[in-house]
Amino acid sequence: MILGADRLGSYRLDAEPDYQAHGQEIATFTAAYLERLPVMLKRPTGCGKTRFIEPMARRLGKPLITVAAHEDLPRTAATE
Ligand SMILES: Nc1ncnc2c1ncn2[C@@H]1O[C@H](COP(=O)(O)OP(=O)(O)OP(=O)(O)O)[C@@H](O)[C@H]1O
Ligand SMILES: [Mg+2]
Repeated sequence: MILGADRLGSYRLDAEPDYQAHGQEIATFTAAYLERLPVMLKRPTGCGKTRFIEPMARRLGKPLITVAAHEDLPRTAATE
């Protein structure tokens, strides 16, 4: 193992995602991140919740791992 290697490198976005921002959502999310506050996105399906996280992950230099939740996914698995 190489010390300091970015083991999550494959989960980092290389290019700026194609995303049309709405209102103050980027500033709001960034402020929450800087205060280490969790954010729950809650809007109708297909409105861009998952898409919004992509540019935020890139801006904040974070890897992005997407888990598609479904009714058989144990509740604890989503919160651990
Ligand atoms: N602001 C946006 N900028 C660019 N594309 C968008 C935007 N909002 C929605 N889209 C488009 O809508 C599609 C669905 O968005 P997304 O998958 O993020 O929805 P969602 O809110 O996560 O839905 P679900 O609740 O079903 O998970 C995206 O693949 C994208 O093509
Ligand atoms: Mg989604």
